Amino acid sequence: MKSYSTIEDTIGVTPLVRLQRIPGEAGEQRGNVILAKLEGNNPAGSVKDRAASAMIRKAEERGDIKPGDTLIEATSGNTGIALAMMAAIRGYKMILIMPDNLSVERRAAMAAYGAQFILTPANQGGMEYARDLANTMQAEGKGKVLDQFANADNPAAHFETTGPELWQQTDGRISHFVSAMGTTGTIMGVAAYLRSQNPQIQIVGAQPAEGAQIPGIRKWPEAYQPSIYKPEQVDAFEAIGQAEAEDMARRLAAEEGIFGGISSAGALVAAMRVAGRVRNSTIVFIVCDRGDRYLSTGVFN
Ligand SMILES: Cc1ncc(COP(=O)(O)O)c(C=O)c1O
Repeated sequence: MKSYSTIEDTIGVTPLVRLQRIPGEAGEQRGNVILAKLEGNNPAGSVKDRAASAMIRKAEERGDIKPGDTLIEATSGNTGIALAMMAAIRGYKMILIMPDNLSVERRAAMAAYGAQFILTPANQGGMEYARDLANTMQAEGKGKVLDQFANADNPAAHFETTGPELWQQTDGRISHFVSAMGTTGTIMGVAAYLRSQNPQIQIVGAQPAEGAQIPGIRKWPEAYQPSIYKPEQVDAFEAIGQAEAEDMARRLAAEEGIFGGISSAGALVAAMRVAGRVRNSTIVFIVCDRGDRYLSTGVFN
């Protein structure tokens, strides 16, 4: 019998596309090319499908979890949607804990995949409160917490898939890799792989500037840095303002036809700064998710 793919098999191997207008004539004269890795093309709509798939599959392989078990994660964003999809595919119960001020479209997507929610009061500690509750529930035997911030399978997903894809898709020409940083799983895994192929590659992290609220990314205070984060893997940091990221998200859609989220546009702001400093370079940035996920924020109005 012919074998057909499952929905899980469609995670990864996302397109890498060249920007045509935003780099402008000045960019072309410098000989740079800016490439967008379209992670919104993953089945649950974000780069997090890779990490969610790896965290569940590898835990299964180790015998830590098995279908039918209950998984618990404190997450208000793309990871929750990706885990909810993976739990549906592989037969787990998924409990997502999140602050009660979460945007409606995200919660609706998680519910569609059959996840259950515990909403915590946003005015009582936000995500930190949600993470504490997840750990308490695990200690009480109510389920298994995967903890994307401390789980080595999160960067491993990018070491094993995103990094090799970028190396192959650019025929080894990639000179700069730019990613927004949340758990740092993407930048850690891709950096480790690309450096193993070419130690000269420059890794650039986009972080929100002081006061900027860009969903999915944080500039962590030292005490709260994710344990998977290794600062020596990042060569340069770019601080991204909220207004410039939102403006770039509108331009990316209207001028390039790439409908991405705000953090993706923030990575492009960083990539453009890099492009202004270098010549004859191949600069890749990650489009983490799709713009549809931000419609209710009004940013595209
Ligand atoms: C919208 C968005 N952008 C960027 C990121 C950053 O990815 P990572 O957690 O791999 O650093 C995330 C992660 O949750 C995200 O949801």
